[in-house]
Amino acid sequence: MSTGKLVVAVVGATGAVGREMLKTLEARDFPATQVRAFASSRSAGSTVPFKGGELVVEELQEQSFPGIDLALFSAGGTTSKHFAPFAVKAGCVVVDNSSAWRMDPKCPLVVPEVNPHDVDWHNGIIANPNCSTIQMVVALKPLHDAATIKRVVVSTYQAVSGTGQKAIEELERQVRQLFNGQEAECKVYPYQIAFNCLPQIDVFSEGDYTFEEIKMIKETAKIMGDESIKVTATTVRVPVFYGHSESVNLEFEKPITPAEARAILSQAPGVQVYDNPSEKMYPMAIVAAGEDEVFVGRIRADNTVENGLNLWVVADNIRKGAALNAVQIAELLLAKGKLHV
Ligand code: A2P
Repeated sequence: MSTGKLVVAVVGATGAVGREMLKTLEARDFPATQVRAFASSRSAGSTVPFKGGELVVEELQEQSFPGIDLALFSAGGTTSKHFAPFAVKAGCVVVDNSSAWRMDPKCPLVVPEVNPHDVDWHNGIIANPNCSTIQMVVALKPLHDAATIKRVVVSTYQAVSGTGQKAIEELERQVRQLFNGQEAECKVYPYQIAFNCLPQIDVFSEGDYTFEEIKMIKETAKIMGDESIKVTATTVRVPVFYGHSESVNLEFEKPITPAEARAILSQAPGVQVYDNPSEKMYPMAIVAAGEDEVFVGRIRADNTVENGLNLWVVADNIRKGAALNAVQIAELLLAKGKLHV
């Protein structure tokens, strides 16, 4: 950087993803000269841990951004929609984890293992995709390059941490309440999440698909740069704290065997093949939680179509699904000298 400084803001620093962003910046030794933590007025003055010490949380305001080079936002769509333009106006590059900018044609939607070239055309805001989409496309891209995916049928089993800190607390609280013979109190989800599965993530939208399902469908096409891949999705919230799991059924143009897919995925960036049925080895949320890679297993043929495969794909939704992907985008921007508009 010409000024020799790199000031980074984490917006939403008190939340589940914001805290993980701070940990990730620290763990990857991101070359920031200063890191600042922002949240709402509710948490102004509180502290968040960083590099063995603490950062004092500042209230996010429209005038917060001069002097900041890079802002990693994870404070929800409404906050992002309002504040990101002020950040850009102040010369700051925003990597945004909400859905606010993802489908904006002026904003790239980036997974560094899949479409790193898309950071080249940013105008100040780069969107971080939905967590379920990120882990799926990391596994799909190398297979698509090899045999051209025609159709994807995905069903997800998503952890509560994807909804944020309050949802983590809701699952903990409901488990305690139910074990104590009390009624489960529902504040975040419309129904009890403890010992239950909710086939609704986000609000219902076009054609009775949920918005989470629509995100998976639309974001996959944008990231892969291929509108011809047909995707259908059923997204389900399950009582797991960390780690999203996905059953992914694929139909290809060209033949591809499970052995070929395994070999391709073994070489793919960001993927760890974790697949040995004879040893009962397959990815699980408890395997992926706290890890950076996208784990792929249960790789097998789907013989009901001409060129079909089934996969089971698991990743830590807070890391690769959110904080890590955002920091990787920032690293890519730095490496390409694209940290300014
Ligand atoms: P706060 O703790 O002050 O409410 P999570 O996704 O885990 O629920 O976290 C959401 C994050 O977004 C929190 O850090 C929260 O801060 C922050 N946030 C919510 N609304 C705003 C806002 N209007 N301005 C800044 N940060 C916000």
